[in-house]
Amino acid sequence: MRKTKIAGTGSYIPDKVLTNADLEKMVDTSDEWISTRTGIKERRIADKNEAASDLAYKASKMAIEAAKIEPQDLDMIIVATITPDMIFPATACILQERLGMDKVASFDLEAACSGFLYGLSIGSQFIATRTYNTILVVAAETLSKIIDYEDRNTCIIFADGAGAAILRPSDDNSGIISSYLGADGEGANLVGVPAGGSRLPTSLETVKNRQHYMKMRGNELFKKAVKIMVRAVDVSLEKGGLTYEDVDFFIPHQANIRIIKAVAKRIGLGMDKVWVNLDQCGNMSAASCAVSLDQAVRQHKIKKGDKVVLTSFGGGLTWASLVIEW
Ligand code: UT7
Repeated sequence: MRKTKIAGTGSYIPDKVLTNADLEKMVDTSDEWISTRTGIKERRIADKNEAASDLAYKASKMAIEAAKIEPQDLDMIIVATITPDMIFPATACILQERLGMDKVASFDLEAACSGFLYGLSIGSQFIATRTYNTILVVAAETLSKIIDYEDRNTCIIFADGAGAAILRPSDDNSGIISSYLGADGEGANLVGVPAGGSRLPTSLETVKNRQHYMKMRGNELFKKAVKIMVRAVDVSLEKGGLTYEDVDFFIPHQANIRIIKAVAKRIGLGMDKVWVNLDQCGNMSAASCAVSLDQAVRQHKIKKGDKVVLTSFGGGLTWASLVIEW
């Protein structure tokens, strides 16, 4: 079995900034409430003509350049998203055409906020088994398109962005040490979009009832998040034969600063070793860990040889944790 490394990363967040002050004018909320309860100050919102594949394209181009490869070198594309360009065809196929690539396997993966880590884990299996050599994993979200800007439970949190990584066989000791993926369908009703699928197809009625927008039982999710994330960290470290002391840098899903701080405390990590961008970027679902990884790499927060843990939690419920030696 071959070890898989991340050979390059990229990310893109849209130009348009939506601040807490802007939201104060839209719903009954305040900068004080949002800042203290979530840690978010502002978030980026896609243009009305910008779709998930547009964000994915920009992040992918950066990752391809960073990995010093050409689009033609790619053997597979995995796009993690809950906001695809359309129900089908897959956003990955639209991206493949846009990148001018060969006709390689391209598919979307839906694991909500855990999508990027699910994608890295799945992609790495093809490399480990020598099926493929070079895989693009992109997480791209345009959550603003499924948010009800009259619902203060969700509109203050979610945002748009994309992050990408190129997976290649490792030529040294670096690479993915272990991964752990999990899900609990009992929590499927805690966050999601009720209409637009085969259970409740879109109709005038569903639109009138605003069922094409995301609904979330945030407080119930909050209560589960810390426990699930800590367990995911534990299992991934254990699978890699490592302990908390071995962790040099932690990239958690960016849902809420209170969740991030509680997880960091439970695993004994100072906040100087924890990546936080939700103050500027909000919660970008699958794209949160992907954008975070690229920003941390580009800002030299991660050094060669560091043991980096990436952990996420989200709709489904799903969770995932990866340990990578950089
Ligand atoms: O991405 C993965 C999936 N999502 C998550 O992981 C989200 C996790 N959940 C959270 O981050 C938090 O639960 C929220 C930020 C969504 C909400 O924070 P909370 O501390 O759990 O608040 P709450 O829902 O328990 O509401 C507390 C109070 C309520 O008022 P009363 O009943 O105490 O009078 C709410 O009506 O805050 C009120 N409230 C707000 N007030 C001002 C709820 N949303 C707002 C708001 N502005 N935007």
